[in-house]
Amino acid sequence: MIVEILRHKKNEDKSYVQKFEYQYDDEKQTVATMLNNLNLIDDLKDIDGNPADKIAFKQSCLQKKCGACAMLINGKPGLACARRLADYGDHIRLEPLKKFPLVEDLIVDRGIMSENLKMMEVYLKGEALVNEKRNELSYEASRCLQCGCCLEVCPNYMANNGFTGMAGAMPLSRIINELNKSDLKEVSKTYNRYVYEGCGKSLACVDICPAGIKIEDLLVNSNAIAIWKRYIKD
Ligand code: SF4
Ligand code: SF4
Ligand code: FES
Repeated sequence: MIVEILRHKKNEDKSYVQKFEYQYDDEKQTVATMLNNLNLIDDLKDIDGNPADKIAFKQSCLQKKCGACAMLINGKPGLACARRLADYGDHIRLEPLKKFPLVEDLIVDRGIMSENLKMMEVYLKGEALVNEKRNELSYEASRCLQCGCCLEVCPNYMANNGFTGMAGAMPLSRIINELNKSDLKEVSKTYNRYVYEGCGKSLACVDICPAGIKIEDLLVNSNAIAIWKRYIKD
């Protein structure tokens, strides 16, 4: 397989493409395993035989649970630990996510997602609501990995444009489903300002979410509660 990687040294201006030749036997081998295997080679060389630096990328759980390894794989955002090499034939291209500041090689700074959650004060300020139907939705929203893949494909998301995308909407939806009607006023205003007003409802984010979160269901539910004040009986 030819592995093409868009590389960038820390604190340098230019990016460059480097290609590697890679062989593997295991049909289940993932992109993350391949990157780790390349990095295990002491005298790593590119396809032209030139010495190559270790490839910088983020990983943690390697079980599709943390979102750390999100990158562009053949142009689509995804988790390196979830994507199998066998699905890409004999050529794969890896690039860093484009909507976040580039740090090095495949690493970007996704701190803005945490900053957005802090800005929106995404935490319970009232008593938690116990309601079976809402608990299910709350659990679904809690599965957000904060990987940023949805922001990458969203036509409306740009850093600091006031819209926090689904990476902001999912944790906010969780809170919306955990609060009693009387405590919803403030969080509804936040939802309106940072999610509802900016979202064009194109739903490009739905298919790309590597956690398979039911984004559309959560959006419909949060819109109903926060915008249209259609409260579920509690
Ligand atoms: S909604 Fe999905 S794609 Fe977006 S940050 Fe959460 S897990 Fe990632
Ligand atoms: S529905 Fe469309 S505009 Fe809204 S977050 Fe998803 S991709 Fe972005
Ligand atoms: S390393 Fe945790 S999701 Fe890939």
